[in-house]
Parts: sequence; structure tokens; C-alpha cells
Amino acid sequence: MTIILDGKALASKITENLKNEISQLSKKPKLAVILIGNDPASQIYVKNKNIKAQNIGFESLVISLPENSTEENILEHIYILNEDKNINGILVQLPLPEHINKQKILEAIDPIKDVDGFTSYNYGRLALGYKPYALACTPKGVMRILKEYNIEVEGKNVLIIGRSNIVGKPLSIMLQQKNATVTVAHSKTKDIKTIAKQSDIVISAIGKPKFVNKDFIKKDAIVIDVGISRTMDGICGDVDFENIKNLCSYITPVPGGVGPMTIAMLMENTFELYKYQLDLI
Ligand code: GUN
Repeated sequence: MTIILDGKALASKITENLKNEISQLSKKPKLAVILIGNDPASQIYVKNKNIKAQNIGFESLVISLPENSTEENILEHIYILNEDKNINGILVQLPLPEHINKQKILEAIDPIKDVDGFTSYNYGRLALGYKPYALACTPKGVMRILKEYNIEVEGKNVLIIGRSNIVGKPLSIMLQQKNATVTVAHSKTKDIKTIAKQSDIVISAIGKPKFVNKDFIKKDAIVIDVGISRTMDGICGDVDFENIKNLCSYITPVPGGVGPMTIAMLMENTFELYKYQLDLI
């Protein structure tokens, strides 16, 4: 029997717990999100993050900057947020406009306010096996789903499709730290299907609708879909869910799988940074 990994329900449980904890605090955690330009998907993500933050009882601030913003202008905002004692988490929504140097912008965030875990300080600590202030939200959400359903990764062959800095790369590190045997496939990988067929867990994060089909799936494999694409038929993941679900032991749906977990982890990270800053942990 196939078990559907319900990220939506788990995310609700996590955010309800956070809401309870936050209601006891007189000073609330505060998240600042910087959005640059007019990317429609980014606008929706930022709006949802802001709504969720306020629902939980956080304070939140969205700084929307025009597409033609200069690096200097964006950096000025980050420096002000770094210094502001009332701000606990800073997130710069990606992707950035082409003319902006992503490294310069992300590296300007104070690591103790780096709610995405994207600064080299936090990312480097993850890679070295030291505790970062925050872990990247999407891979952290994937790991949390696996934990919630008692899915043991030790000794398992895990294929991650996609090597992005946001998902594939940090997730490969997190899984190795839990003793999984990890393969990271990308656009130049030969014969992904054969590798997938030998994998106990397949995690796809490339944004190609229905890329992972029944030819990829070993019987009773575990399939995690991180892709979200907008198609003529609506929101669609990287996985051909309907045609493979019966082959799998566990599978995440899209929507309602990894997506809600990303936002829940962002909220959890904001609260953890707040605690670090107030010397509570
Ligand atoms: N764009 C897509 N995913 C993410 C994420 O996790 N963090 C940020 N900052 N931007 C994103």
C-alpha cells in the first residue's frame, strides 16, 4: 500500500505549535523579506510567507524593490536590517534580476539573521558537520518529512535529481550526515533512469513537469517531489504522481507535499534565530 506523505498536515502541526509558543512571548520574532523585481512566482511566494508569518504571530516586513535596483541600493537595505535589533530573520527572495551579483547580496546578510542558511558561514558549517544558525528551508523540510514518517535513510541509496544551491546540494549533505549513500544527478548525467531504478529513495528538484515517470521507479521506492511548475493543467510537480503512486511505498503529492514544509521551516528558522539573538539557545 502506498502512503501519501502529507507535508501540508505536518506543516500545519509545526506552525500550530509555533503559534502557541509565540503567543506566550511579549516581544515577537520579526522576519524581513526583500523582493526585487516583478517575477510573478516570487511575488506569490513572498505574499504567502508574509501571510504565514503574521498568522503565526510573528511581525513581518516585506521590502519590495524595483527590477532596476542597483546592488548598492539592495545592500543598503540589508545593512539597515542587519543593524536593526527588532529584525530576527532576513530573506532575499531568489532568483534575483540578472544584473545583480547574488553572491554579493547573500553574503551581506549577517549569518545570525540568515534565515535561509545561504551565507557561506552557515552553508560552510553545514558542509563541515557543524551546527549552522539555520539550515536551508526546503531540504530541511524534506528531512523533516522523512523523520516524521520514520523513514530511515541510513544505508539507503538516495538519488537527488538537481544540484541547486537551494535544494539539491544542501540536501545531499544532510542525507550523507544521516549515512545515506547519495547520488546527485544533473543535466549532464547519463542515463538517470537506470540510476533511479536502483535507488531506494528518489528526490527530484528540477522543475520539469512529470519528468520522473514509471521507468524511474524501483518497486516500493520512496519518492519526494520538490518541483513546482505552473502548467496549462495547473500546478504540477516533477513526478508523474498518478502513474507511479501505486509503485511506491511513500510519495509526496504536489501541491501539499514539500511546498508547505518550506514555509513551515522558514517560520521555525525565524524563531530559532530569534532565540540565538536573545541568547535563549
Ligand atoms: N526561491 C526559491 N526557493 C527559495 C528559498 O528557499 N529561499 C529564497 N530566498 N528564495 C527562494
